[in-house]
Amino acid sequence: MIEFTIDGKTVQAERGESLLKIAGEHGFRIPHLCYHEAVQAYGACRLCLVEVTQTSHGRKRTKLTTSCNYPAMEGIEVVTQSERINRNRRMIIELLLARAPKSKRLQELAAEYNVPTGRFKESDHECILCGLCVQVCRDVVGVDALGFTGRGVNKEARPPFGEPSKECIACGACVEACPVDCIKMEETHTLRTIVRWERSLPMRVCEECGYPFAPTFQLMHFAKKSGKPLSEFRLCPDCR
Ligand code: SF4
Ligand code: SF4
Ligand code: FES
Repeated sequence: MIEFTIDGKTVQAERGESLLKIAGEHGFRIPHLCYHEAVQAYGACRLCLVEVTQTSHGRKRTKLTTSCNYPAMEGIEVVTQSERINRNRRMIIELLLARAPKSKRLQELAAEYNVPTGRFKESDHECILCGLCVQVCRDVVGVDALGFTGRGVNKEARPPFGEPSKECIACGACVEACPVDCIKMEETHTLRTIVRWERSLPMRVCEECGYPFAPTFQLMHFAKKSGKPLSEFRLCPDCR
């Protein structure tokens, strides 16, 4: 265990733990969009800025850095709120909002931080390229149906070759993970559709209550991963 301070308060943590995570556990609120405990922090949205001061050979050096992918170190001093942080954060929110103007989450952040609007041309991308959907699909679900394609302004997170993925099991994990809500899922009695990835799969109906509870393809994936026969997935979670 190591000790350091956050806004003057001494905290203990394991060396190398994410500053954002530790700050959250101690009640310090640092806004963030692309951090997800289940995957490695990638530092994409830049929203979780903090100032970190390190003392080396009697000299103090302060830098502005993202906290989600900054490892806890002995003796550092972390500041979560300052004019410098707010100035930079406002600019980041403004740019993200120009990229995804329909995002409610970004609109709320813009209101909270009093962010000016209209200085940058709005796009209709919706996606802020945080990469969470790609990571969650690959590292949590174990499917790897998504990736980044293109470069610069043409960069996109989506299934490879710009076609509906044949791998996607329509589990909805990426829908949950997307911080700006741009991956929509629609469900009828017979079909589940991940709209952004143009993937529709037939639903399996619970043999007990008749409720359509998951796509058959998703259950086949679970059966394969767990080594159990598909027949063990005949019932919905409530009837199991
Ligand atoms: S819905 Fe498809 S793309 Fe999204 S996490 Fe599940 S398998 Fe991956
Ligand atoms: S679709 Fe959502 S989760 Fe995926 S990269 Fe874009 S903003 Fe992030
Ligand atoms: S949450 Fe840290 S960079 Fe996005």
